[in-house]
Amino acid sequence: MKLIEWNESLSVSVDSFDMEHKELIKMINEFNSSEKSKIDKIFEILDGLIHYSDFHFKNEERFMKQSNYKFYEEHKAQHERFISTINKLKKQYIEGRPFVYTKINRLLKTWLIEHIKKCDKKYAEHLIKTYKH
Ligand SMILES: [Fe+2]
Ligand SMILES: [Fe+2]
Repeated sequence: MKLIEWNESLSVSVDSFDMEHKELIKMINEFNSSEKSKIDKIFEILDGLIHYSDFHFKNEERFMKQSNYKFYEEHKAQHERFISTINKLKKQYIEGRPFVYTKINRLLKTWLIEHIKKCDKKYAEHLIKTYKH
């Protein structure tokens, strides 16, 4: 079962970022549907997710900075918090703590959707305004 389905309500109207969000969603769904007993596979997906998130966040941050987006620092701080939380959970997961898998799943789903809808859409609007002329 898919945890998240991409739909137009998640579009930020910038193709490259929509594509990257779709890729992230794909990876989250893969994490969600992977066999829990296959630990190596789970960590491989999780590492891929952390790596791709970092790549995506840097792309967004570069554009935000170039266009003098006034909420750049706040937005960047959100990205950093996400990466540090997911790394913390990954560590707990390695240590074998129970329920962490569910926690990671929940974080991936709620954080990403909220972040796209509230924060990414806001900077994307600014980008479109800045570069339209
Ligand atoms: Fe994003
Ligand atoms: Fe973002």
